[in-house]
Amino acid sequence: MTIKKVGVLGCGLMGSGIAQVSATAGYDVTVMEQDQKFLDKGFSGIEKSLSKFVEKGTLKEPVQTVRSRLKGTTNPQDLADCDIIVEAIIENLPEKKKTFASLDTIVKKGAIFASNTSSISITEVAAATKRPDRFVGLHFFNPVPLMKLVEVVRTIATSDQVFETAYQFGQSLGKIPVRTSDKTGFIVNRLLVPYLLDAVRAYEEGVGSIPDIDNAMKLGCGYPMGPFTLLDFVGLDTTYYITHVMFDEFKEQRFASPPLLKRLVMAGWYGRKTGKGFYDYADPNNPVPQKF
Ligand code: 3HC
Repeated sequence: MTIKKVGVLGCGLMGSGIAQVSATAGYDVTVMEQDQKFLDKGFSGIEKSLSKFVEKGTLKEPVQTVRSRLKGTTNPQDLADCDIIVEAIIENLPEKKKTFASLDTIVKKGAIFASNTSSISITEVAAATKRPDRFVGLHFFNPVPLMKLVEVVRTIATSDQVFETAYQFGQSLGKIPVRTSDKTGFIVNRLLVPYLLDAVRAYEEGVGSIPDIDNAMKLGCGYPMGPFTLLDFVGLDTTYYITHVMFDEFKEQRFASPPLLKRLVMAGWYGRKTGKGFYDYADPNNPVPQKF
């Protein structure tokens, strides 16, 4: 099957990034949000990001050409003729099931449904529709316009043809897809989350300060960000949520949230987006490590 028109659900950080890379790759894209103000915010982020690529000389077309392929809507009927729907709404199982069950009656039968969830079971969301064979996971990474990876997730019900089409769609966006199965966390979070949680435990045990642990992993392992900088970047609320889903699935200590992570989330310190997490971002260009 050929994909020409892409629907994206949600215009937050991930949804806007997915919409941007799809439009940059030449697809017509319709992004749906509940409120126009979220579309305005997301599209303004897309324009900023596109202008960075222009500055670097890596955008092959004028911004306006890419922008003209992007439409925003608050009406699900506008997604009816999409060939693929990529969902990037809130990480909440009932919300995702409700959204897909309703779109199942609106979007054309042959379309592929994909979720960008990082931890929720694709199988369970797909079961809310009458097209579980046409359902995959497409897990992108933040910031989507820069990160090269997309995890393509198949469930026990996904058809071979749909899985391959989704894989090729990932490639067509300029990403390197990897094939994985619907086990909570897929490949990246299965390995990344215990590492991040271990960094918090190491700090709790007095192994090193927050900047020292960050520098150790950055300079000792060549990682682009240390674990605390990455936790603040991903969002402590998001990570905390993922730990619950993973612990619930595997019942293993390595996926359990350390007390400090829970305390930060309870305090409303979610990282960069709230101005405080393991670092204080009063001056976003000069984060100051916190001491706990
Ligand atoms: N769009 C376009 N350009 C962007 C951009 C965006 N959204 N964000 C940053 N840039 C540009 C910057 O302007 C900068 O351009 P320049 O070279 O001309 O100055 C360039 O990209 C590099 O950015 P920075 O100098 O700010 O910082 P870095 O060199 O550290 O690169 C990074 C930024 C790519 C984010 C890098 O730090 C990185 O790879 N970090 C790790 C990110 C990561 O691990 N993400 C995955 C998180 S896990 C996840 O998403 C899964 C989920 O399920 C939890």
